[in-house]
Amino acid sequence: MRQNLPPSIHSIIDIPKVAFGRGSYLHDVEGKIYIDGSGGPAVYCIGHGNEEVNAAICDQLGKLAHGYRFHFTTDALEELTEIVAARCGGTLKHMVFVTGGSEAVESCLKLALQYQTAVGQKSRRKFIARERSWHGNTLGALSVSGFRERKLAFEGALLDVIRISAVNAYRPLAGASADTLAKVAGQELEDAILRHGPQNIAGFIFEPVVGAAGGCVPSPANYARLVREICDRHGVVMIADEVMCGAGRTGTWRALERDGVEPDIMSIAKGLAAGYLPLGAAVYSEKISAAINHVPQTGHTFTGHTACCAAGVAVQKIVTREKLVERVAANETKFRAMMASAVAGIEQVGDIRGRGYFQAVELVADPETKTPFPAEQRVFMRVRQQAFDNGLICYPVGGNADGINGDVVILAPPYNATDNELAEICDKLGQSLRQVLATL
Ligand SMILES: Cc1ncc(COP(=O)(O)O)c(C=O)c1O
Repeated sequence: MRQNLPPSIHSIIDIPKVAFGRGSYLHDVEGKIYIDGSGGPAVYCIGHGNEEVNAAICDQLGKLAHGYRFHFTTDALEELTEIVAARCGGTLKHMVFVTGGSEAVESCLKLALQYQTAVGQKSRRKFIARERSWHGNTLGALSVSGFRERKLAFEGALLDVIRISAVNAYRPLAGASADTLAKVAGQELEDAILRHGPQNIAGFIFEPVVGAAGGCVPSPANYARLVREICDRHGVVMIADEVMCGAGRTGTWRALERDGVEPDIMSIAKGLAAGYLPLGAAVYSEKISAAINHVPQTGHTFTGHTACCAAGVAVQKIVTREKLVERVAANETKFRAMMASAVAGIEQVGDIRGRGYFQAVELVADPETKTPFPAEQRVFMRVRQQAFDNGLICYPVGGNADGINGDVVILAPPYNATDNELAEICDKLGQSLRQVLATL
């Protein structure tokens, strides 16, 4: 670590300094090249250094960086609104643009509360959320998150959230098998609503495909439909957090599109502007918008930031023109097979799962019992370091088994990665896992 800089610059580990990125590759200042197998944290979905996006941002900056939302509307804001509404389909036509995932989730929670107030249900103030979920780092988003390690330092200061089980076919909740999981998990949600009183519940928030906290855990078939029915039955707002799994990452533009379900409110962020500028959104249905008289009481100074929206427009035009969501859907099986063959024979690979270009391997000490490695071994951190040494950026995370223990490695390549690049990512993953596991 460089001595003359504060440690906060480097986090807790010594990390390289990046110089530039092109397509699926990043170059550090020492000249080392890394293939970006995870789009950072599932963000850089069209790769790095895209000249068309950079030009669109520069063009916008040349005119105006930011038209403040209470003074002006802008072309970029209007165009992105149309694009997102068309991509979402159905009644999800309304949105507030923010600068990231946590802000998007905050806005989703606030919209649910504002809606309940507007429809005369002001007693509904509580949220239900699942274990093994990550919704962000601001206080509200952290409160609904089920990620013990990341919450420990803030315990006692967070919102009182009703917590229900994670929904993961590899680790089904008590009394369920992979086949009955959706039904048992749906019942648990309904029981929680009834136990705490529907008149007290504002909303239920969940990730349709769980990201960092679980490792690309897809909802079981029919789960989202059951959630929709239960929420409708009890006047609970259904909130889908698609910050990580949305914007095409899982092979449909909305992740819940594949489940045939429309939520009331949805957060999106990472892939929306692909990391070119900070951008997220809380998208909501006609029902919610009409109830609040089309005036969302959420947003910040940089809401609808013009240059950020211009980046979003440019990225989404490329995603549409190059049929990248369709490409992700078409390549899902092939990509997973590449991963499976790269890790074949590694005894400690307990599960390979995910949707689209959002796939993970779960590592376990004992595949028979699914016992995770003890957290002290920091297996996921070792994988991250080894992969870096091998020139691969992947996204290993810990705590997925019980909030503390557990190791998963997420791959989330750019939608436009070539087949050779996908193969390189998978090969380097297999190599890195073998190297780390041989040392344990
Ligand atoms: C599902 C989900 N929601 C919310 C967030 C928070 O987003 P951000 O880090 O952009 O604030 C994340 C970040 O990883 C996420 O994966």
